[in-house]
Amino acid sequence: MASPVRTLRLGVNIDHVATVRNARGGPYPDPLRAAVLAAEAGADGITAHLREDRRHIGDADIANLSRHLHIPLNLEMAATAEMIAIALKHKPHACCIVPERREERTTEGGLNAAGEHNRLAPMIRELSDSGIRVSLFIAPERKQIEAAKSLGAPVVELHTGAYGEACLAGDATAVADQLSALQMAAKTAASLGLEVHGGHGLTFDNVQAVAAIPELAELNIGHFLVAESIFVGLAASVRHMRELMDKARP
Ligand code: PXP
Repeated sequence: MASPVRTLRLGVNIDHVATVRNARGGPYPDPLRAAVLAAEAGADGITAHLREDRRHIGDADIANLSRHLHIPLNLEMAATAEMIAIALKHKPHACCIVPERREERTTEGGLNAAGEHNRLAPMIRELSDSGIRVSLFIAPERKQIEAAKSLGAPVVELHTGAYGEACLAGDATAVADQLSALQMAAKTAASLGLEVHGGHGLTFDNVQAVAAIPELAELNIGHFLVAESIFVGLAASVRHMRELMDKARP
């Protein structure tokens, strides 16, 4: 059995700092400034999703973050030739491959790693060969975990969105079911030698049950942290999330 991961890293997703900036098309708030502040407040890494439609993070943000950040950058992106070329140019620490549909408001489902083996395999190989740690954003399902393993990705990020939705709906049965799916998936992935991350829809109220899953090595959290920063500031928001995650680990 894989041993529990002691330290749970916090990756802060800064996409929605760019959403606010883009509402007016000017230079502020600057995602790089947010990333530096998040790092000072306890983030172990920064995540940024360069979407095909550039609705929040833009190409210049990725260039700035790659050049100036002193903590690892996790570039979230769809598996397209354009995105692979951008990743190979900037060489972030990690790339998390996500499914992307233009009409969706956020990343709604996990990647179909099981059904898209032939399309994904060469891209994962190219990123890995250039020294980028590849992670696949998947639903907490055995079939997807096994597919990620057979694709040679060293990391899976389990989609916690359904768990987050169940928490928001106050549906205790669904919360328990989703949590149990995440626990099982984390165990399965770790037993196959994969590093396990989680993310999407995590908040102060729901993070601890997920953070307590011993196989998890990293959580990527964005929208709630940026939303909360309106009231308490980004540093306080990140610091409190960090404390809650640490308290969930014995
Ligand atoms: N992880 C992945 C792969 C994501 O796509 C997102 C959303 O961009 C997150 C984590 C963060 O989700 P949230 O913004 O809901 O915290």
